[in-house]
Amino acid sequence: MSFLMETYSRMPISIVRGQGCRVWDENGHEYLDMVSGIAVCNLGHAHPKVVDALREQAKKLFHCSNLYQIPLQEELAGMIARHSFDSRVFFCNSGAEANEAAIKLARRYWNDHGKKGSRIITLEGSFHGRTLATVAATAQDKFRKGFNPIPEGFLAVPYGNIEAIDASIDDSVGAVMLEPIQGEGGINIPDRGYLEKVRHLCDKRGILMILDEVQTGMGRTGKLFCYMHEMVEPDIMTLAKAIGNGFPMGAMVAKPHVAEAFVPGSHASTFGGNPLAMACGIATLKVMVEENIAARAWEIGMYLMDCLVQLKAAHKAIKDVRGRGLMAGIEFDMDISSFNTAGLDKGILLNVIQSRILRIAPALVITKQEIDEAIAAIDAILTQKGL
Ligand SMILES: Cc1ncc(COP(=O)(O)O)c(C=O)c1O
Repeated sequence: MSFLMETYSRMPISIVRGQGCRVWDENGHEYLDMVSGIAVCNLGHAHPKVVDALREQAKKLFHCSNLYQIPLQEELAGMIARHSFDSRVFFCNSGAEANEAAIKLARRYWNDHGKKGSRIITLEGSFHGRTLATVAATAQDKFRKGFNPIPEGFLAVPYGNIEAIDASIDDSVGAVMLEPIQGEGGINIPDRGYLEKVRHLCDKRGILMILDEVQTGMGRTGKLFCYMHEMVEPDIMTLAKAIGNGFPMGAMVAKPHVAEAFVPGSHASTFGGNPLAMACGIATLKVMVEENIAARAWEIGMYLMDCLVQLKAAHKAIKDVRGRGLMAGIEFDMDISSFNTAGLDKGILLNVIQSRILRIAPALVITKQEIDEAIAAIDAILTQKGL
């Protein structure tokens, strides 16, 4: 009997240690980790510089509250702004919180400027989190089922269709919110130029562009932030997952004129911007930038894609392979949920999403040899299952 609420159907292993792209369970079994805590430990498990930063900060101060100056917040916010776009940052603790903050900021901005309404257009298949406002923004029914009343103010349009967004904009709409590549929705990659078209549309119709980079950010797709693949800048960007390389934290980043809509008292978080999180965030971003981890993710991602194309050629059951950088998916025609446990037998952590898609999201420090190892394991699973 467990005292935990059953919000997860968990794999039958307990992971007790990790190093780089490898983890070990309590019985000493080693696994190649192709999940990285769902696109979180982008620098690999137990990265020495992040561990040192956390240890040094833990000796000094865990927490003090945002009632006081926290210089580490200033330092990390400045680093984020310098490496993204001219912006101000609000720190929180998760992706859902970052998106909640973005939704509130967009509403507050139009409340102050009076021109547009508070409604936000989102895309079918999106995933923005599990709080009430973020499930409302998440245009997948399964995440909303049984939680009525769902907050109003969101309008879902078909994915990848610029005309559908255009047609839905009226004076009640103040923003479009989207993931540059949909993660939980199935590694859905829009056509090149889609983000630019959304940006131009937002400019033309005078609404805000909110990019949820919770999963795509921090080097995952081969650029530090995924929007950098196109000539665009969002008005608001949300980050979480990899920003602390596993230390829980999130950030909502907004252009200064938009950020001004938040004043003391508008929004807050007890733990947001906590010194431990900031120390991890600074160390993580420093390594990302100094070692150009995003470029590495791009290069290894190209290699991965070559391997996936070959895998598809060898197995009829594979319907599609797609990805950018080290955010990739292998799509099947049938339910492949059993691959998660089949992976454990082969010494590899795998993650199936939408029951048909194998998500590949290893740490960005993965080597070509480790990619070969992962492909060989997936190949063996497919052969064993006669696929
Ligand atoms: C794009 C995106 N946004 C938001 C979230 C929610 O993040 P969290 O689980 O940290 O609340 C996720 C989580 O998978 C995500 O992929």
